[in-house]
Amino acid sequence: MRANGADHGEAFAAIAADHAHMLELVDRIEVGMGEPEPDRGAISALLDALVTSTREHFAREEALMGDAPLEEFVQHRRDHHYLFKVLSDFALAFQSGSLAASVEVAFDLHNWLSFHIERFDSRLHEILQG
Ligand SMILES: [Fe+2]
Ligand SMILES: [Fe+2]
Repeated sequence: MRANGADHGEAFAAIAADHAHMLELVDRIEVGMGEPEPDRGAISALLDALVTSTREHFAREEALMGDAPLEEFVQHRRDHHYLFKVLSDFALAFQSGSLAASVEVAFDLHNWLSFHIERFDSRLHEILQG
């Protein structure tokens, strides 16, 4: 894996940029949901952007994992699958009107993302750095 160190450096920079972008979207969703009269259309568009960014980001990380037979990568992919389902269900529920805008819900979304980054993505970085 060290032979591709330069490639990994670029990939890690892209991953860090993805995380910053996703966290910014979550912050904007949280701010939007906290307004006295939330703009559901704007929040809905932010959720769509988050779903798209998350899909692309998970694919980027999984491409880096390749087919290395590591249990940690198996768990990491499983967490991606679970998180994406949670996010998709959340976006659909909000967009169909069955979920009210609330700061608490947006806060859950923030925890959802930051926990994964700390638990799994930091390990991916360590493992690939060798
Ligand atoms: Fe990840
Ligand atoms: Fe990530």
